[in-house]
Amino acid sequence: MEIPWYGPPQAAQQFGESVSRVVNEYHSLSYMQMGWKHTKWMGVTTYKVPNDLWMYQEIIHQLKPDLIVETGTFQGGSALYMACLLDVIGKGEIVTIDINRPDDPPEHPRLSYILGSSVADETVAEIQAKADAAECVLIILDSSHLTAHVSKEMRIYSEMVTKGSYLIVEDSNVNGHPIIPEYRESPGDPPGGPMEAIEAFMDERDDFEIDIDRHRYLMTFNPCGYLRKKV
Ligand SMILES: C[S@@+](CC[C@H](N)C(=O)[O-])C[C@H]1O[C@@H](n2cnc3c(N)ncnc32)[C@H](O)[C@@H]1O
Repeated sequence: MEIPWYGPPQAAQQFGESVSRVVNEYHSLSYMQMGWKHTKWMGVTTYKVPNDLWMYQEIIHQLKPDLIVETGTFQGGSALYMACLLDVIGKGEIVTIDINRPDDPPEHPRLSYILGSSVADETVAEIQAKADAAECVLIILDSSHLTAHVSKEMRIYSEMVTKGSYLIVEDSNVNGHPIIPEYRESPGDPPGGPMEAIEAFMDERDDFEIDIDRHRYLMTFNPCGYLRKKV
């Protein structure tokens, strides 16, 4: 049986199937054990694994973005984390979007909230106005993970990403890559997650590339999800 590989291609060639199996099993175990659900930044719940939070730190330091847009706030932990990183580099703001309000939204001068759908016309217009005024825009898609929704977000927000910056598509590990085969958010949903949206997007577009260096810790919850806009 061929084991799918979600780590760096060089490592797959070097180490072969046994490593693919170990990494996928570790990934599945890490997901099932739910450590990610108990991750906190400054006491605020942050649905991320540390590997990906570290990648965010590296990307934010490298880009020094004027604007970060996050779809999917949940409790605001990831947004607060990025606001604190912006403070360290001394510039930029983050806008986070959700259809639900966090229980206790963290406050930070660089952080603002939009309550609404990431794909609603009024939300997109508000973000577009901010993006038009920014030199460097970083986008993170972490709201609904259904293929159709992610595809719509990718079409909208890819246009706002500035050259050299990233469109980060979160949780592309669902729908069997390698966790939760037949991913659905409601019983009537057709199965499919962000990976299927990424595959369709990359088939259509040649202005983005997958940054495989972001797989360097072997396990990321966003396999093939760090998309860099070509310069
Ligand atoms: C995975 S959680 C976000 C996690 C958060 N970014 C973090 O790392 O802690 C997904 C969030 O997306 C929100 N959501 C679902 N559909 C949405 C939509 N159409 N627009 C905006 N947010 C949405 C949900 O309410 C939920 O809070």
